[in-house]
Amino acid sequence: LKVPHRRDVSFARLTTLGVGGLCRWLFEPTTETEAQTFVRACVREGLPWRVLGGGSNLVVLGDIDTPVLRLALPKTVSREGHQLTAPASHGHIALAEAAAAAGLSGLEFASGIPGSLGGAIRMNAGAYGREWVDVLTRYRFLTPEGDLVEKAPEPGEFKYRWSFLTGGHVVLSATAQLAAGDPTTIRAQVADYRAKRGTSQPLSKRNAGCIFKNPPGQSAGRLIDQAGLKGLRVGDAEVSPEHANFLVNHGHATAAEFAELMDRVQAVVRERSGVALEPEVEIWR
Ligand code: EPU
Repeated sequence: LKVPHRRDVSFARLTTLGVGGLCRWLFEPTTETEAQTFVRACVREGLPWRVLGGGSNLVVLGDIDTPVLRLALPKTVSREGHQLTAPASHGHIALAEAAAAAGLSGLEFASGIPGSLGGAIRMNAGAYGREWVDVLTRYRFLTPEGDLVEKAPEPGEFKYRWSFLTGGHVVLSATAQLAAGDPTTIRAQVADYRAKRGTSQPLSKRNAGCIFKNPPGQSAGRLIDQAGLKGLRVGDAEVSPEHANFLVNHGHATAAEFAELMDRVQAVVRERSGVALEPEVEIWR
């Protein structure tokens, strides 16, 4: 297969949480055509595949033998009027910064969300009451059959931390409709969000963001906190004392420790409040 690839790369180096076994086959296409070649080859061979972005919302619980696709497209951002288009492998925070520098408002909410643009689209990432579908005007992706589609979002395609772009879809690029803004005002808003996160989230330790989805009308962080689980530790994996919906790696945590910690949190919260917490992170095993 004429697509750049590497063998046996540790997921500790591919995810922000820094745990996981080996990625046996990591394919890193540098063009959309190579990505399509990869998907079509998998379809032809009857092989499943997985799509990796920035690894900031992913907990890998072992070695992964199925081929993994991680786009390595050129990081070009193009502007047309107040619209910005970027490849899915573009850094999410870097894109928010590029928008701010260009005096375009609308991606301030994204300024603290790590990972790739593709991952952000795939899960309709959001913060502070805003989410990607609010600004998304067009996106390109490969279907699980390997067909290239470009379209505008439609109702039902994106919901709270969810989109249909799972199960073999590959996001290739996205276009955001932004608005002319004053760079000073945009930067002030970004700084305000950063200050809020700085006091409420454990940003100095390796983490994968919020681990569980907020159940409708409730806060996963508050439920875990009220169950008295802050500081609960399995090896080097800990429920953050700063924000209970963050699990942090104190340095040498293993995937098995995170798996056990997540199980315990879910069990205790279910027992105390009857709520079944659903992971917000993707789990690969
Ligand atoms: N809370 C506690 N204890 C805690 C944590 C939170 O009591 O340990 C309470 C807070 O006091 C607050 C409420 O729970 O009253 C909600 O907490 P917070 O404002 O921190 O927001 P969140 O619902 O926990 C959501 C997103 C975050 C996003 C923030 C800011 C989800 C699962 N989480 O967190 O997104 O950064 O709002 O908009 O939707 C992520 O998706 O990975 C993520 C971190």
